[in-house]
Amino acid sequence: MTGGLKVGVIGCGLIGNKRVEALDADDVVVAVFDVDASKAATTAQQVGAIAADSIEQVLAERPDVVVVAATHDQLAPITAASLRAGADVLVEKPGGVTAGQIEAMLAVEHATGRRVKVGFNHRFHPALQELQAEVSSGTHGELMHLRARYGHGGRPGYDREWRAEPSRSGGGELIDQGMHLIDLTHWIAGPLPLHSALLRTQFWDTDVDDNAALILGVGDSRVSPWAMLHVTWTEWKNMFSLEAYCRTAKLQVDGLVRSYGPQTLTIHRMAPDLGPPATEVRTYGTEDLSWRAEWQEFKSAVADRQRPMLGGLADALYAWQTVEAAYATSAPYQAMRAQVGA
Ligand SMILES: NC(=O)c1ccc[n+]([C@@H]2O[C@H](COP(=O)([O-])OP(=O)(O)OC[C@H]3O[C@@H](n4cnc5c(N)ncnc54)[C@H](O)[C@@H]3O)[C@@H](O)[C@H]2O)c1
Repeated sequence: MTGGLKVGVIGCGLIGNKRVEALDADDVVVAVFDVDASKAATTAQQVGAIAADSIEQVLAERPDVVVVAATHDQLAPITAASLRAGADVLVEKPGGVTAGQIEAMLAVEHATGRRVKVGFNHRFHPALQELQAEVSSGTHGELMHLRARYGHGGRPGYDREWRAEPSRSGGGELIDQGMHLIDLTHWIAGPLPLHSALLRTQFWDTDVDDNAALILGVGDSRVSPWAMLHVTWTEWKNMFSLEAYCRTAKLQVDGLVRSYGPQTLTIHRMAPDLGPPATEVRTYGTEDLSWRAEWQEFKSAVADRQRPMLGGLADALYAWQTVEAAYATSAPYQAMRAQVGA
């Protein structure tokens, strides 16, 4: 266990506040900032922190760590400023709006000796942690392929929010939920090249994608793993599903609690002569444990600086290279990406 930290929070929207809720009792939020002063004031009042007028005022409080949970276009510059001010940083995914921004942050991380964790909280859901451990243990034989689906149905006006504005979001659902599936695939199967991508803007009135389907893997291999991912803003009933096919078992996670339903890990173990498998179902309660677990991981990596960062900038760089390769396959999305103000 590590001691309490002085925390600064920049961006007090939905996730900034979720991050605050996930802190330990001995962590102290010293200052918060949001360009919407009323949001900063609400968060500051809840935790007894200073509602700062600027990012500089937050950094002047010399926080040990800064949580960055602003719009995507702001993530990289705020992270770099926080590192230069001497803080370690937990920045929300996607960490920036281009692979180049992630590379630049890696350089700042290296130059300052501070550490960055990217908010890949999905790695910290207990069912996904157990699936990853089961697959990597080799108990079920080697991993052959993955299939993952993730989607939500937006809300009225979703296409007028910053997430649908290329200059602020960098792109659509491929970045919104796709980043998580790309990161989970990377974590479970290792880095896989983009084989093909299909992007659509089918329902929402925006230039960014509302659906993305990716195939990852080497095309002409008989042995290396591959993955099929679909993310969508037209999933009228929120859903999360990730299936991992090993030589002797299929492992499946369903649900992410809350509107995504209860989280389960189902392991179908094949009999030597095939036929119906023996099925084990593990359940994990109704609470979203990922935010607190990710915070504990971040604190441990900040305390023990030799410890690898589970979900750091190198992982974000892989995810961004995959996203950029997918957008590059389609002229309309190349034009959309040209609007990205990086
Ligand atoms: N891990 C997850 O499951 C998950 C889920 C949702 C969102 N996110 C990520 O969290 C981040 C924030 O998303 P959100 O849902 O909280 O959005 P949000 O719109 O609720 O909050 C973003 C906040 O950032 C503020 N902001 C914008 N520019 C700023 C700046 N320069 N300085 C300070 N504040 C600024 C906005 O005023 C707003 O309050 C995004 O990177 C998003 O991708 C992660």
